[in-house]
Amino acid sequence: TEASLHERYADYFAIGAAVDSTSYKDAHVPLLTKHFNSIVCENEMKWESLQPTEGVFDYTTADQIVAFAEANNMAVRGHCLVWHSQTPSWVFVDQSDAPVTKEILIDRMRNHITNVVTHFRGRVSAWDVVNEAITGNKEDGEDAGEDLSLVQSWGYRNSDWYKIGGEDYILEAFRAARAADPDAKLFYNDYWNYLDEKREAIISMIEKLKSENLIDGVGLQCHLNIEPAQEKLTNQTVHQTVENLENEIKAYAALGLEVHITELDVSMYTRDYGSSDESKWHRTEAELTDALKDKHATRYKEFFDMFRRNSELIGNVTFWGVADDNTWLSEFDSGRPDYPLLFDKQLKPKKAFYSVTDF
Ligand code: XIL
Repeated sequence: TEASLHERYADYFAIGAAVDSTSYKDAHVPLLTKHFNSIVCENEMKWESLQPTEGVFDYTTADQIVAFAEANNMAVRGHCLVWHSQTPSWVFVDQSDAPVTKEILIDRMRNHITNVVTHFRGRVSAWDVVNEAITGNKEDGEDAGEDLSLVQSWGYRNSDWYKIGGEDYILEAFRAARAADPDAKLFYNDYWNYLDEKREAIISMIEKLKSENLIDGVGLQCHLNIEPAQEKLTNQTVHQTVENLENEIKAYAALGLEVHITELDVSMYTRDYGSSDESKWHRTEAELTDALKDKHATRYKEFFDMFRRNSELIGNVTFWGVADDNTWLSEFDSGRPDYPLLFDKQLKPKKAFYSVTDF
């Protein structure tokens, strides 16, 4: 039988998986307990899950997942306290549906963070305190999507958090988390940090957090594709190469921050957003050619070779899912089936699995 992934990586970093409301108690359990020593909730610790209605906290599922982790000696990453997405609309409005004042918003945020972080004190070792607060299209608060030529400038995402709270909400979020559990490591989490311009904007935000000793690490999501995308931003930055990601890791480590790879998966599609062209879809596992599987395995191998080279800078590498039967990428792009993880739909190890354990 195959090696245990986390045992293979015992000298390097923890190996995590995102679980949902069923995978921690269904057929995925043997994979989880054998291969992973860290866990994160895919959705069950987000605001809409924990406090769907003001003042009504529901920890049922999150508690069960944490208990599962504790019973199996797994670390728990907490994801996430403040995000523009999966946050109920009541947070931002008053009873007549008008936007709340900054004071009320920050108060609600502090209350949420204090309640959640206190609830899990001593059991969650790292929190993604703020998720995706920096973007390249700050005017409308949305990402530039597939067309990076639309990017104007990088800065705070124009979310409801920012529109009402200004940049202070970020500092206040980290202050509340620090106060509620001084022993938990506090992270800022985001994607596309390998774009130089985005990283510069993130780093200037981080400098403010560092001056109050409020941040311990940076989470790099790493939703990657089978090929590095070739789009260029302001004619100089190429995405998703191993080299760019390595530079990014070193840049954050140079600030004294611990790096976690927080949401790793490698889509079997190029970042062409050709999801409307069904002729390009790999509908079934049988349609995945050996050439495609080899390419996928090689891409994983190249990233893990680099992660091991930099293991003193990296504390945790977490996959965004366990096996291909249950991956957010198969819902994300108009139902296009994807195969981004190390285990297939039958929960068997893939070429990609062997490529990252064979060293
Ligand atoms: C995703 C989940 O995987 C989906 O189940 C959910 O419908 C939407 O959110 N970046 C993040 C994660 O920080 O929280 C997102 O998770 C994926 C992108």
